[in-house]
Amino acid sequence: MLLKSTSLGLLVSLLSFLLCSSASAAQHTLPAGSSLSVEDHARPFLVSPDATFSCGFLEAGENAFSFSVWYTDSADKTAVWTANPGAPVNGRGSRISFGRDGALALADANGTVVWASKTSGGGLSVSLLDSGNLVIVSDPSSSGGSTVWQSFDWPTDTLVPSQQLTKVTTLVSGYFNLYFDNDNVLRLRYDGPDISSIYWPSPDYSVFQDGRTIYNSSRTGVLDDDGVFLSSDNLRVDAADLGPGVKRRLTIDPDGNVRIYSLDASTGGWTVTWAAMAQPCSAHGLCGQNAICEYQPSLRCSCAPGYEMVDRNDSRKGCRPLFAVTNCSPAAAPAQRFRFVEVPYTDFYGYDAGFNQSVTFEHCKKLCLEMCSCVAFSYRLQGYGFCYLKDELFNGYTSPNFPGTIHLKVPIDFDDASAQSVSKGLACNPSGPDIVQGPADTFQTTKNSSTKWSYLFAFATVLGVLDIIFITTSLWFLSSKQSIPSSLEAGYRMVTGQFRRFTYRELKDATGNFKEELGRGGSGVVYRGVLDGGKVVAVKKLTNVARGDEEFWAEMTVIGRINHINLVRIWGFCSQGKHKLLVYEYVENESLDKHLFDTDRKPLPWRERYRIALGTARGLAYLHHECLEWVIHCDVKPENILLTREFEAKIADFGLAKLSKRAGADDSLELSHMRGTTGYMAPEWALNVPINAKVDVYSYGVVLLEIVMGSRVSDQTTAAGERLDMPQIAQALRRVGATRDVVPLVDGRLEGQFNPRQALEMVRISLSCIEERSNRPTMDDIAQVLAACDDEDEHPAYK
Ligand SMILES: *[C@@H]1O[C@H](CO)[C@@H](O)[C@H](O)[C@H]1NC(C)=O
Ligand SMILES: *[C@@H]1O[C@H](CO)[C@@H](O)[C@H](O)[C@H]1NC(C)=O
Ligand SMILES: *[C@@H]1O[C@H](CO)[C@@H](O)[C@H](O)[C@H]1NC(C)=O
Ligand SMILES: *[C@@H]1O[C@H](CO)[C@@H](O)[C@H](O)[C@H]1NC(C)=O
Ligand SMILES: *[C@@H]1O[C@H](CO)[C@@H](O)[C@H](O)[C@H]1NC(C)=O
Ligand SMILES: *[C@@H]1O[C@H](CO)[C@@H](O)[C@H](O)[C@H]1NC(C)=O
Repeated sequence: MLLKSTSLGLLVSLLSFLLCSSASAAQHTLPAGSSLSVEDHARPFLVSPDATFSCGFLEAGENAFSFSVWYTDSADKTAVWTANPGAPVNGRGSRISFGRDGALALADANGTVVWASKTSGGGLSVSLLDSGNLVIVSDPSSSGGSTVWQSFDWPTDTLVPSQQLTKVTTLVSGYFNLYFDNDNVLRLRYDGPDISSIYWPSPDYSVFQDGRTIYNSSRTGVLDDDGVFLSSDNLRVDAADLGPGVKRRLTIDPDGNVRIYSLDASTGGWTVTWAAMAQPCSAHGLCGQNAICEYQPSLRCSCAPGYEMVDRNDSRKGCRPLFAVTNCSPAAAPAQRFRFVEVPYTDFYGYDAGFNQSVTFEHCKKLCLEMCSCVAFSYRLQGYGFCYLKDELFNGYTSPNFPGTIHLKVPIDFDDASAQSVSKGLACNPSGPDIVQGPADTFQTTKNSSTKWSYLFAFATVLGVLDIIFITTSLWFLSSKQSIPSSLEAGYRMVTGQFRRFTYRELKDATGNFKEELGRGGSGVVYRGVLDGGKVVAVKKLTNVARGDEEFWAEMTVIGRINHINLVRIWGFCSQGKHKLLVYEYVENESLDKHLFDTDRKPLPWRERYRIALGTARGLAYLHHECLEWVIHCDVKPENILLTREFEAKIADFGLAKLSKRAGADDSLELSHMRGTTGYMAPEWALNVPINAKVDVYSYGVVLLEIVMGSRVSDQTTAAGERLDMPQIAQALRRVGATRDVVPLVDGRLEGQFNPRQALEMVRISLSCIEERSNRPTMDDIAQVLAACDDEDEHPAYK
């Protein structure tokens, strides 16, 4: 009897085991020919052997589904990987299938394949591993079971433990990216339709002050099972619940912050255990133009005084002025037409039309009044009197700790009271959506908010931008051939106004069939043109561009946003098949080389030389540091420094490195042939090392020396007529630095009419620029030193 009941018990448990396993259909590997239709979304496609992860269809909106991987135990089934982010499939008739041809493919209701693994071959199988990696492997018996495809190589917005972020992968959420920059630093960047801007690590500090390094080029980051995220740039972060046995993920959220989440095993909810930024408003691009981001106690966007919301239903779209936009005709003195409205504890990051140090508040105000394009200025004392002139208002934020005040330029008759009430009313607009739940103390996110955001950003990845020179390519260009949605293009045009796309026909007409040649260089020939409105422009026909229309378009939207007084403004471009043209501001007085080296001309006076040196340094500093940290010019030389009628320097051809032929596997080699000009190229071009902004610093050093000497550095010879090489030149400069006797070096045609203190400083800077790469200063450092030395220019102390 006893025996009988035991065996019955055994039988029951055996039966229930069999029943359970068949009912849950917990397959972790499927052979070719398997599929799952979206109607069966309650059933997972695959479950990992220990059931940690599941994969299948997830709801991504009303009647919309994505094919994703998620932690089985998470209550809201937060996707850690998605095949078709931002492009959900229909809730009826869609299907994921692992075909007999060896490809895993997701088909929409009408049969269109919206995503595919692009694998092929016989004997393949698809598995979900315990790590959360969805893999396609070849038959172990035939070729050793190698992995032919894995979802870990194609991350979306999340990393799970052991999944690496690499130099070719980027986490993307809407317009926000987490990626390794080409200086090897892990960064966060907002890359929206109207601006692009790096905001983490804080751009207010140098990479080293932020505790990172640029010297490790392996560019990898990984979260481990203990909750430690380590990246090759020296970043180490610990989850608050450090230790094994917790299910975690690292995700870039729709608000631009990166967080580590830990799964609460009892409730299936997520808890934030680390966040990259404590202040949500530190992310750029959250609120649109002319808007200010505030956090109190949740994130909201309000308009700057004098501006109203573009779309009351969507505060992210930014604000427009309530007054007529600055009219620049000098009918009356600026001081009689404009005044300033003060907004304390507030700043707008980037878009500085000018920066002056050691000036008084009144002087700063005057500079903004007199600069037509200036829409606001920021003045900070901090012992120096920093004056920032703004010609666009982006990335606005307000925080009780911020030490500065922004002063907005408004017409003199502008009604303060109406501005206040309007901006207040909109700021508190009850129907306007909150941007995102603040992660302050509670750190809980709900599925609702992320769904809403993924919908809003359905097309966001389209504007993903390629990193300049190196292989770090955004996933989108590799994986999809979608065209730019026309709606987005229209919106983009609306925002930037003057920057636009031209047809080939328009430019042919504007240049009189490319009649008047202004110059030619490595990147193409430049023609003079006149646009319909009578604006004179320079039109450059690019050679050597092997980019498709869409890629070219994407690059141009980035280059077109760059705007600084010392950079040649780009008004637009044309990309029609093989025709690739750029439309530039016309700069009247030719390039610096003509004025420096052409012996038939009157020598360029010292004061102009110094201003050109300073302007060029500021332009490059802007490219390197200010809002687009990843723009390296790669071809700084006097030919690319144009001069206005007033001898203001304007750097040309920046961003062209991005448009040139993309190199193959051996990037640096290809680049050394392609970029730069002999005599101005840093020695590391010849080495197999990643190129960073320091190549521009080197070239700038050579140009600076040429400004002092009035002749080409590469033409310097010894008394015996032998050409001097750079080490010999550096040696000579060191001697000048030690003896402080610059006279022999300075252009003799100036006949002693120069400022020796400035000349000595320029020689010192030049020497430091041609040093070994790690010892070179940054362009920011240089601009500051030159600006400091510029003060005495107001009381010229010429010899
Ligand atoms: C299939 O449907 C999608 C949207 O659901 C649409 O974009 C696509 O053009 C359709 N394809 C065909 C071949 O009809
Ligand atoms: C670079 O980073 C990787 C990954 O973090 C590390 O393994 C390697 O030791 C680092 N190399 C150097 C030279 O520090
Ligand atoms: C804002 O939403 C309301 C209702 O939700 C709608 O009637 C109105 O047209 C919307 N306004 C805009 C500018 O989209
Ligand atoms: C301030 O900067 C502007 C342009 O950046 C320049 O024209 C001006 O001379 C600078 N210095 C002073 C003291 O205003
Ligand atoms: C989330 O959505 C559900 C319905 O889908 C709704 O009932 C709930 O109130 C929403 N929660 C929030 C925080 O919006
Ligand atoms: C260009 O510079 C020269 C001095 O080299 C000056 O005489 C001339 O007027 C300038 N041209 C223009 C168009 O400003």
